[in-house]
Amino acid sequence: MDLLSGKRLVLGVCGSIAAYKVAQLARDLTLAGAQVDVILTEAGARFVGAATFQALTGRPVLTSLWDLPEDGVVGHIALGAQADAVVVAPATANTIARLAAGLSDDLLTTVLLATRAPVLVAPAMNPLMYSHPATQANLVTLRERGYSLIEPGEGRMAEHVEGKGRLPEPFTLEGELRAMLGRATGPLRGRHVVVTAGGTREPIDPVRYIGNRSSGQMGHALAAQARDMGAEVTLISSAIAIPPPAAVVFVPVATALEMQAAVAAACTHADILIMNAAVADFRPASAAERKLKKHPETQGMTLELVTNPDIIGGLAARRDLFKVGFAAETDDLLAHAQSKLERKGLDLIVANDAVASIGQPEIALTLIDQHGQQPIARCPKREAAALLMAALVERLPRR
Ligand code: C5P
Repeated sequence: MDLLSGKRLVLGVCGSIAAYKVAQLARDLTLAGAQVDVILTEAGARFVGAATFQALTGRPVLTSLWDLPEDGVVGHIALGAQADAVVVAPATANTIARLAAGLSDDLLTTVLLATRAPVLVAPAMNPLMYSHPATQANLVTLRERGYSLIEPGEGRMAEHVEGKGRLPEPFTLEGELRAMLGRATGPLRGRHVVVTAGGTREPIDPVRYIGNRSSGQMGHALAAQARDMGAEVTLISSAIAIPPPAAVVFVPVATALEMQAAVAAACTHADILIMNAAVADFRPASAAERKLKKHPETQGMTLELVTNPDIIGGLAARRDLFKVGFAAETDDLLAHAQSKLERKGLDLIVANDAVASIGQPEIALTLIDQHGQQPIARCPKREAAALLMAALVERLPRR
């Protein structure tokens, strides 16, 4: 089940032009199954109307301390007390200052004083206002009180100035919210998970490479799921066609050797390694510096290949690291997977049919460990990732 399903969220929208982006966020969170109560500050209501948020969330939008929902039951204290999380986006300099001072002079600040749920604050304002020592000091105060803060982006602002103060995109805000909820109660909170994804690209010359059909979808879904479960996630990926999930540390790589170095660095402090990448077994012995040319007088060409290091196999001595490998095969799937589990010193191996799953939106899996096999029926990769991560959590050694 999705992390956001059934969650009660309060979304505070302040007076910044970036409020228009938050309409999309309200819709995305609602579609993910959350109950989203939007509170508009007086200034926020001047940028995006209550009717917009009401239509997107299917819930009454609250704007004043004095307007109670029709049933009159859920007052402002209850709204804060019952929330699973509160998001303030965009958070203006003024509201940040009011929060830091502990004021309760409107509905949003009152709800924030009344909640003990995790709070995510996404500042968005003019770059001069953002960098002002008063705003910066207020943000330090909020962080010290345990609020999660999202760094604003840099670039061109709506009022045509350049600088730091842009509200991140809804996708990023949702990812940060999921990470915050995961850190609060998720089964992987306090754990560092390293996930690899995509097919490595081994250069032949500056233009060509040896690659494979792996899209990276499964690895990216696993990283997002580990984040939702509260883990600190490092995603090392050679996927080029899909974006990384938000709120994970993203390390882009191309080759197996680059991936090996990135995995070694990330795993020094990791608890779990999920090696989902389709690593090329061989690479050209040397990559040509210039584009290789075909000559009319010669037929064909020969490439000399050398074996790549086995990245996860090389970490067999790390008994403290819970290691998950994948086996994508075209024949004798389970037998090959079983022998890889042993040969590579893995805690768990995930077998899947290479042709039916690589680059496809759906996947069927069989999990194999020393205790036996567990099938996961064919389903979208996002669902398979959630089921796989739940099975992994059950197998983790207690701490
Ligand atoms: O040996 P094979 O490639 O079939 O094993 C697959 C598993 O081993 C996957 O988890 C893959 O990410 C990992 N692997 C690796 N280093 C390689 C090749 C595969 O870590 N050079």
